[in-house]
Amino acid sequence: MALALAPLAGRVVGIDRDPDLIDEARRRAGAAGLLNVQFVVGDADALTDFVHPDDGVEIQPDLVVAHLFVSDPLVRTAAKSLDPGGALAFVGFHVDQWKETGRRSRFAYDEDGARRLLTESGFLVEHLEVERSVQQFRSVEEALAAAIGLEERWRADGRWFRYIRFLEEGGRTLTQSHLVVKARRAALA
Ligand SMILES: C[S@@+](CC[C@H](N)C(=O)[O-])C[C@H]1O[C@@H](n2cnc3c(N)ncnc32)[C@H](O)[C@@H]1O
Repeated sequence: MALALAPLAGRVVGIDRDPDLIDEARRRAGAAGLLNVQFVVGDADALTDFVHPDDGVEIQPDLVVAHLFVSDPLVRTAAKSLDPGGALAFVGFHVDQWKETGRRSRFAYDEDGARRLLTESGFLVEHLEVERSVQQFRSVEEALAAAIGLEERWRADGRWFRYIRFLEEGGRTLTQSHLVVKARRAALA
C-alpha cells in the first residue's frame, strides 16, 4: 500500500509491527527507486500519534491509510493526528470474512460498529461499503484447495477444524468480506 501511494504523495510513512515485513517493504521501495517512503517498525495501537519525526521536522499526515489491519486505537489515533479536513481511508475485515470458519477476526467490524467508532472518534463518514465475494465449490477437494495457503494459520487459531466441520455438514462456500471506508476529520467543536 505504501509503495502504491508513494508516487501520489509528498511523503509516505509505513508502519508494521513485523520487522521482517518492514525489511521487505524497504527492499521493494529501494528496488522501485522510491525516495519519499520511510518505514517504521511499531505497534500502531501503542503509538500516541501518527506524527513522524524526520531530521528534527515533524511530518503530520493529511491522510491515514490502513490495509487489513484496523482497530479502535488506530482510528482514534488517526483522529488525533489529522487536522480537520484530513482523511482516513481503510480496507478492513468485515465480520463475514471467512464466516464458514465460525470465528470472526478480532480486527473485524460490521457496518454499524465501524460507523459508530468513526463518528465517536470525530470523523464524518464519506464512504462505507462492504465488498464481498463468495466462492462456490463443487466438491470438498475444491473447497480445501481454496484454503491451501491458510491451513497452518487456521490450524493454529482453531479455524481449520470448524471449516472441516462446515464442509462435512455439506457447506461448499468460502466468503471474503471487506469494509471499504473513507472518512474525514470533522472540524473541532
Ligand atoms: C493482513 S496483513 C496486511 C499487511 C499490509 N498492510 C498490506 O496491505 O499488505 C496485516 C498486518 O498488520 C500488522 N499488524 C497487526 N497488528 C498490528 C499493530 N498493532 N501494529 C502494527 N501492525 C500490525 C501485521 O504484522 C500484518 O503485517
